[in-house]
Amino acid sequence: MIHLLATGGTIAGEADPEAGHGRYRAGVRPVEALVAAMPGPANAGPLTARQILALDSKDMTPADWLAILAATRTAVADPSCDGVVILHGTDTLEETAWFLHLMLPASKPVVLTGAMRPADHPTADGPANLLAAVRLAERPEARGKGVLVVMNGTAFGARRVVKARCSGLDAFESPEPWQAARADGHFAGLAATELPRVDILPGYAGAPADLIDASVGSGARGLVLALCGNGSVPTAWLPALRAARRHGVAIVRGSRAAGRVAPDTNADDSGEGWFTAGDLPPPKARIALMLGLAAGLSGDSLRSALLACGG
Ligand code: SIN
Repeated sequence: MIHLLATGGTIAGEADPEAGHGRYRAGVRPVEALVAAMPGPANAGPLTARQILALDSKDMTPADWLAILAATRTAVADPSCDGVVILHGTDTLEETAWFLHLMLPASKPVVLTGAMRPADHPTADGPANLLAAVRLAERPEARGKGVLVVMNGTAFGARRVVKARCSGLDAFESPEPWQAARADGHFAGLAATELPRVDILPGYAGAPADLIDASVGSGARGLVLALCGNGSVPTAWLPALRAARRHGVAIVRGSRAAGRVAPDTNADDSGEGWFTAGDLPPPKARIALMLGLAAGLSGDSLRSALLACGG
């Protein structure tokens, strides 16, 4: 039995006649209607469906991640459950997938999917994506891979998948096939009821240092720097970053470009007390840092956890 959990997104979207210009509202259509529209349901095994949220995923919060995690844990614990499929908006799908990947132990398959076209589009992609996700969650080979994502006929592992294009059915990509994915569950033992604030600060020509002071002053316990190139820290940021460290704020040096930011390669991370993002893009490095801080880690133990997640 596959347990289907719906959270909203374009896959449940419908045209918004009031807004015009082809605009639509995400998260409108209930999960029962999405199941009814799935092609060839006879080709998939039995499933249960539950509506847990009805959001446009740009509005998803860390509290929503925890609600999705709780619903997923409940589903996985049901002896009748062979796998879980989660319907989600595509905009932050990779963040929820990565959060669940770090929080769930290696067990039954958990597959996220969404759609690039709303449910009432004449060639909606949601029904085929839903069927593909259910079929993947039923496959024994999907066990032990951690959280997976299916879009447009292709499956991906949660660690490497990104929404790389803002439109088009082929919006998602990963440098590795899903078969290479491995379950992680690094923070599966963490019983968090809330997550600490961690902000992402973008680096760009002329980026002002007072954004760092604003984040720290607003209660951020960690900062992920989405810097240029190989994680190059603007010289003008150094005083504010050092002040943040004196306040105990954890700082992760990452890049807005793809690739690996390694410790002490392009900055004195050891001397400054900074961590590095490895090959995690800033939104995923942020989640790893949030979980590390929620677990009460600091110093070398936090560094080790981030390295284990970021490689
Ligand atoms: C959303 O992320 O909820 C809206 C966009 C989408 O699902 O493609």
